[in-house]
Amino acid sequence: MSTSNIPKIDTASRKDGQRKTKVLIVDDEPAIREVLEMILQEWGYDVRLASDGVEAKDLVESYDPEIVISDVVMPQLSGLDLLRCLKAGNSHRPVILVTAHASIDLAVESMKQGAQDFITKPMDYPKLRAILKAAESDIEMRQTSRKLTSQLERGSGFGEFVGSSKVMHEVYDLIQSLSTTDASAIVTGESGTGKELAARTLHRLSKRAAGPFIAVNAAAIPETLIESEVFGHEKGAFTGAVGTRPGCFELANGGTLFLDEIGEMPMPLQPKLLRVLEDGKVRRLGGKQEFEFDVRVIAATNQDPRAAIRDGKLREDLYYRLTVFTVHLPPLRDRKEDIPLLAQHFIGEFNKKHNVNVEALRDEALEMLMTYSWPGNVREFRNVLERALILARGEWIETSHLPPYLRNPSAESSTKIVLPLGITAAEAERELILKTLENTGHNKAEAARQLGLDVKTIRNKLKTYKIEE
Ligand SMILES: Nc1ncnc2c1ncn2[C@@H]1O[C@H](COP(=O)(O)OP(=O)(O)OP(=O)(O)O)[C@@H](O)[C@H]1O
Ligand SMILES: [Mg+2]
Repeated sequence: MSTSNIPKIDTASRKDGQRKTKVLIVDDEPAIREVLEMILQEWGYDVRLASDGVEAKDLVESYDPEIVISDVVMPQLSGLDLLRCLKAGNSHRPVILVTAHASIDLAVESMKQGAQDFITKPMDYPKLRAILKAAESDIEMRQTSRKLTSQLERGSGFGEFVGSSKVMHEVYDLIQSLSTTDASAIVTGESGTGKELAARTLHRLSKRAAGPFIAVNAAAIPETLIESEVFGHEKGAFTGAVGTRPGCFELANGGTLFLDEIGEMPMPLQPKLLRVLEDGKVRRLGGKQEFEFDVRVIAATNQDPRAAIRDGKLREDLYYRLTVFTVHLPPLRDRKEDIPLLAQHFIGEFNKKHNVNVEALRDEALEMLMTYSWPGNVREFRNVLERALILARGEWIETSHLPPYLRNPSAESSTKIVLPLGITAAEAERELILKTLENTGHNKAEAARQLGLDVKTIRNKLKTYKIEE
C-alpha cells in the first residue's frame, strides 16, 4: 500500500517544531499495524509498533507513549488485559481499543475499564482521527490543570485569596501594608467580591491576630435588635432583655470588629456609634459602667459610600471616622485572567468536600465562565463550580454541567423584553409568559414561580394565548 492511498484528513495537524505526540499501536496482524503506522505518521504522530500485549508492555516502559491504540483479540495478552495493566500504571494514558468483533458487552466493558474510546474494524479513519484529537485534548487539559494546581500549591494569591491579576496584587499589597497599622479601614466592592475575606486576612496578619474577629452584619439583624447587638445590654434594659449581653465592642476587645454593610446601619444608631468610636468607651443599654475597649474597626459596604451619604443612608462624619483607608475589591469581570486559577482552586476544594475526582473544565466550559459577567462575583462563581462538580460525575466539567443562564450567551439580553406602546394588556401578558418560559428552559413550574402564578394558571393561559406547550 502506498501512502497515496491514505485518506487525507486534516493532515497539517502539527505546527513545525512542535513535539509530536507519541502513539503506540498494538496489533497481531502486521498489515494492519503498518497501515495504521503510515496513516498516523502522515497525520503527524510519532509511532511505534508492537505485535502483541507482552511486547506492548515493554514498549510502554521504554518508549512511554502518550496514547495507545490496541487491538482487542490477540494471542497471549488481550487488548482488555493490556488496558487493565496500563490503567494500573499511568491511569491517565488514553487507550483506544480496536476490534473486528464488536459487541455491546465488549464496548461497555472497555469503557468501564477506562478506555478512551472504542472503534471497530474496518477502520473509520475520520472517526479514529477524531478520537485521537479528543485524547490529545484530554492530555493537554490535564497538563494545564496540573500546571494550575502546582501554581496554587506554590501560592498564587494571598492568604486564602486566590488570584494573581495585577488588580488583586494591588489589593494584597494594600492589605499587607495596612496590617502593620492599627488604622480603621473600609472595604468596598460588589457583593461576593471577598470583602469579608479581606477583613479576616487583614486581622490575621495584624498584631491582633491572636485576638477575636467579630463580624456584625447590619443588614442581617432586625433593626430592633441591632442596638443591643452593638452596645450590649443589662438585664431588664428593655422588654425581653432577660439576661445581660456584652456588645460587639466588648466581644472584639483586643481584636478586630468587622462592621459589615455599614450603609444598612439604622440612621439613628450612626451618631451613637461614632461617639463610641471617638471615645473608645462603650456603655451597655441600661448599664451604668463604661467599658474601655481596644478594637480595630473594619467596615464594609457593597454600595458606593459617597452615594450612600448622598442618599442619606450613611452619615458623612461616621464614614470619615471609619475610612482612614479604603480597600476596594474589583469585580470578577475586571480580572477574568484569574478565572482558570480560581476554577482549579474550587475544583480542589469541592473534590475533597464531595469526595469526587474532577480534573478540570473542558475548554468550552472554561470559555463560558470567561464570557459571563458574574454579577455575584466570586461567591456566584464558587456556587456554579460546586454545582458543576456534583453534576459532572466524571473527570471533566462540560458545558452541560453549567447552569442554563451561562450556557445561553444571549441570556443577559433575553432577561429584558421591549413592548411597543399600543398593544393590549393580553398581548403584553402573552409576550411576558413566552419570554419567561424561554428563559427558564420551558420549565413551567419555574416560570410560574417567577411570574407569581400557579402552574395551573400558566397552563390555562398557554391555552388562551394559543402557545404550544
Ligand atoms: N479571591 C478569592 N479567592 C478565593 N476565594 C474567594 C476570593 N474572593 C472571595 N472568595 C470567596 O468567595 C466567597 C464570598 O466572599 P466574601 O463573603 O468575603 O464576599 P463579600 O464581598 O463579603 O460578599 P457580600 O457583599 O455578599 O457580603 C467566600 O466563600 C470567599 O471565601
Ligand atoms: Mg460580606
